[in-house]
Amino acid sequence: MRVLVLGAGGQLGRDLVPQLRAAGHEVLALARGELDIAEEGALAGLLRRSRFDRVVNCAAYTNVDRAETEPELAARCNARGAALVAAACAEFEVPLCHLSTDFVFGGDPPEDGRGWVESDPPSPLGVYATTKRQGELACLQTGGPLYLVRTSWLYGNTGPNFPLAILRRAVAGLPLRVVADQVGSPTWTLDLSRALTRLLELPPCGLVHLSGGGRTTWHRFAEEILRQAGMEAAVSPVSTAEWGAQAPRPRFSVLYSQRWEELGLTPLRPWEEALGEYLRSEPGVASVLNRPG
Ligand SMILES: NC(=O)c1ccc[n+]([C@@H]2O[C@H](COP(=O)([O-])OP(=O)(O)OC[C@H]3O[C@@H](n4cnc5c(N)ncnc54)[C@H](OP(=O)(O)O)[C@@H]3O)[C@@H](O)[C@H]2O)c1
Repeated sequence: MRVLVLGAGGQLGRDLVPQLRAAGHEVLALARGELDIAEEGALAGLLRRSRFDRVVNCAAYTNVDRAETEPELAARCNARGAALVAAACAEFEVPLCHLSTDFVFGGDPPEDGRGWVESDPPSPLGVYATTKRQGELACLQTGGPLYLVRTSWLYGNTGPNFPLAILRRAVAGLPLRVVADQVGSPTWTLDLSRALTRLLELPPCGLVHLSGGGRTTWHRFAEEILRQAGMEAAVSPVSTAEWGAQAPRPRFSVLYSQRWEELGLTPLRPWEEALGEYLRSEPGVASVLNRPG
């Protein structure tokens, strides 16, 4: 297949592109400097000139806290950009894979303790989540062929992600205070990329949740990162209120997929197992820990 990846310079894009190529697909990977998804006509012009079998939109404004003070910028990419991408893909009948977030679920957790499923109604909190939900709705409203993939708590080899931040602070001997009352599912971008590669080979399947297996808190995640990295450092638990972030965040954003099972696909492995391989194999981790990559 010929696959176009937008936002290819981000955490997910950088893992997804090599996975798609390794699976034998021809990939055009465009970072923000090469195609701005919020520029009117940019993608439509490209799709008019070149034929693709799939478009994957990894582009997003992802700074959750900063979005509260620059809502126009967040909306420009996450709502307007997503809408332009969806409209162009629908016009040229190219199946679109659009990435969205667990943060669309800001409400009280389901009473039976399960994770959020695809049929649960979203209730986004804050600017980032609201603009991502607007992007989802724009994709759904075109009626074009779609994979709308919600994922959660991403970490990869680059970017300001949680495991690298924890390791950097521990290596520097800085105190570690981590929020202990938000529950979710960490997802390694390489695992997600492998799963997306499989998904894109199937016909478009609409909304699907796709996250690392199991659930945890940021505090327990931090402790597991240090334990598996063989580092001894105390992690003080703090509440969301004590932490005082600019943006509101869901208390519980575990995703569970009914669709993934219906499609007969294997769920992502437990987050602890993925974390172990990440810590052993990612060059970004090796460089923080100052060990050979
Ligand atoms: N990170 C998470 O924990 C998480 C959790 C759940 C869902 N998601 C979703 O997963 C997807 C991938 O996230 P990620 O972690 O890979 O994000 P990321 O590392 O922030 O990458 C997003 C990329 O999009 C680019 N971008 C921003 N505005 C753009 C525009 N107007 N046109 C084209 N590209 C633009 C960014 O470029 P610049 O760097 O130059 O701004 C960046 O390279 C996003 O849809 C995100 O909402 C992320």
